[in-house]
Amino acid sequence: MKAIRLDSYNRAPVIGDIATPDIGPDDVLVRVSAAALNPLDIKLQSGVLHEYFPLEFGYTAGTDLSGTIEEVGANVTNWRRGDKVIARLDPVAGGAFAEFACVPAHYLVKVPDGMAFELAAGIPTAAGTAWQALFEMGNLDVGQTVLIHAGAGGVGSFAIQFARAAGARVIATASGDGIDIVRILGADQVIDYRHTDFAETLADIDLVIDTIGGETQQKSFGVLRRGGKLLSLVAPPDEVLANAHNIDAQFVFHMSDTDRLARVVSALHENNVRILIDQTVPFDAFAQAFARQSSGRARGKIIVTMA
Ligand SMILES: NC(=O)c1ccc[n+]([C@@H]2O[C@H](COP(=O)([O-])OP(=O)(O)OC[C@H]3O[C@@H](n4cnc5c(N)ncnc54)[C@H](OP(=O)(O)O)[C@@H]3O)[C@@H](O)[C@H]2O)c1
Repeated sequence: MKAIRLDSYNRAPVIGDIATPDIGPDDVLVRVSAAALNPLDIKLQSGVLHEYFPLEFGYTAGTDLSGTIEEVGANVTNWRRGDKVIARLDPVAGGAFAEFACVPAHYLVKVPDGMAFELAAGIPTAAGTAWQALFEMGNLDVGQTVLIHAGAGGVGSFAIQFARAAGARVIATASGDGIDIVRILGADQVIDYRHTDFAETLADIDLVIDTIGGETQQKSFGVLRRGGKLLSLVAPPDEVLANAHNIDAQFVFHMSDTDRLARVVSALHENNVRILIDQTVPFDAFAQAFARQSSGRARGKIIVTMA
């Protein structure tokens, strides 16, 4: 089968021809229809995360997939050949950017009726992280105000919509055509971060979702109310600053959780959440998709189709 392979850190991914994976008794074999890129794939390839996610080469890239079950392991009783599924694979195992993937059955969530595979593949990491940050760690409540940095990105585009659906007031940062996009997604206030310093205009925020780090994170302490929360997806927050501002600041480490993924998929459906797609490219154009994800400029998810 065709698969996107990494042969070492920091070398461009290549299309390889490898054996279709064997499945164990608790696994299913999924014929992959679509898989989504995440910044994580770029960081895994660069080796910057090797301490947390040590890869064994050759490694088949990709964590987020959608497709159809082709074969079920002997112990799997609740899934059948032909079921349409979504899953997030363990980053160390990888395997989503391939024609077939071996998926532990307990990772699987059903694709909602009528949802295209290309959209379903965009859900797991980005929407799961947004949910984990807003509700499991941020305890976002009705009437609170949340500042979401990079509102037009993969995580931000879901976070804006989930936060609005939960009754929060949403402020998002964006630039260029991202400004209209985040407005359409439901942001109550948009800050064009290239022209306006959010730290000069905002105050008394309850929760900040930091998707940028560095100066953006440092300035974010100053816009929170005392006792507010800063959750960073990119760098452990500065403890000294957190204490000085009386902020509960934490790093978000997204962990796959099938119950959460199922909740997220239901919430998407119930709240008409839009899965924002930056571009969908065929498997053979993977290099283009990888370059776009590496640029840091994506509006929503970048999807690779396998067919
Ligand atoms: N810790 C975890 O478990 C975890 C989980 C998921 C994601 N993450 C991390 O979270 C970050 C965001 O993920 P993502 O999937 O949302 O990334 P993404 O989709 O690549 O984000 C792209 C967006 O970021 C915007 N952007 C770039 N610089 C900005 C700035 N200074 N201010 C505001 N917006 C800016 C871009 O808009 P412009 O083109 O207008 O600049 C673009 O729309 C990544 O670093 C990712 O690795 C961590």
